[in-house]
Amino acid sequence: MTPSFASQAACGTTPPQDAAPAGQAPAGIPYPKAIKSFVRRAGRTTAAQAKAFADQGPRFLLPYSAAPLDAATAFGREAPLILEIGFGMGEATAHIARVRPGDNFLCCEVHEPGVGALLKRIGEHGIENIRILQHDAVEVLDHMLPPGSLDGVHIFFPDPWHKKKHNKRRLIQPPLVAKLAARLKPGGYLHCATDWQPYAEQMLEVLGGEPLLANTADGYAPQPAYRPLTKFENRGLRLGHGVWDLVFMRRDLEDSIPPPEPTAR
Ligand SMILES: C[S@@+](CC[C@H](N)C(=O)[O-])C[C@H]1O[C@@H](n2cnc3c(N)ncnc32)[C@H](O)[C@@H]1O
Repeated sequence: MTPSFASQAACGTTPPQDAAPAGQAPAGIPYPKAIKSFVRRAGRTTAAQAKAFADQGPRFLLPYSAAPLDAATAFGREAPLILEIGFGMGEATAHIARVRPGDNFLCCEVHEPGVGALLKRIGEHGIENIRILQHDAVEVLDHMLPPGSLDGVHIFFPDPWHKKKHNKRRLIQPPLVAKLAARLKPGGYLHCATDWQPYAEQMLEVLGGEPLLANTADGYAPQPAYRPLTKFENRGLRLGHGVWDLVFMRRDLEDSIPPPEPTAR
C-alpha cells in the first residue's frame, strides 16, 4: 500500500510530568500522550471486506481493552506471540502466518479497509493463527501487553513521514523502541523494514542506541525468508528504490547489567 501523507493534527509528543520508567505506561492515565503515527484515512470498505467483517470478525477481531491480554485464551492455544504494527492490507501478514503456523500473530491496524482485507484473506486461506486489534498499537502496547509478553515484533514499511516537521510522527523513536524492547522476552526479536533511506538510517541509530537490544547483523540485515516481497515493495524495487531490513534481538538483562564494582576495604 502507499503511505499516507495527509495533513497533520497536532500531536502530543511531550513526555507527561509523571512519566513512568521506560517501557511502562504511566499509572492512572488510561490514554497517555504518545506518538500519533497515523491519520485515519478515508477509504471505502468494499462489499467483500464488509462480508469478511461479518463472517470472520466475531472470531478473529479482538476488542481493545485497557487490561492485559490473555493471549492463550484469545488464540485458543499457547504459542510464541508476535506483534505486528500497521499491517496495511495484510498481504505480508497472511503470508507469514501461513509459513509460520506454530506462532500466534497479534496484528494491529487502524485502517478499516485494511482490517477487512486481512479478514478476507483469513477466510480465503483458512488461517487460524492471526488475531486482529483494530486500534492504535501504541495504546495496545501500553495497556494490553505486559513486559516480557512478546517473542517478536514486526513493523514493515511504517509511514515514513517524509517532511522534517512530521518526522516526530515516526514510530521508530527512542521512547517507543524502549517500550517494545521491554515487552520482548530475552531472545525475542524486533524486525523492521523500510524503503525510505533516511528512515532506515534513523532506525539503525535508534535501535542501535537501545540498551536492551542487540543487532543480529553488522548494520542492515539480510531479508529474513519469512518476509515476502509485497506488490508495493516489488513496484518500488522496479523503480530502483532500495529496501532495508533491520533485525534486533532482546538482550538478557543478566548480560546487560554490569557486575557491581568491588568495594574497597
Ligand atoms: C505505509 S503502511 C504499511 C503497511 C504494511 N505494513 C505494508 O508493508 O504494506 C503503514 C500502516 O501502518 C498503520 N499504522 C500506523 N500507525 C499505527 C498505529 N499506531 N497503530 C496501528 N496501525 C498503525 C497505518 O494505518 C498504515 O496502514
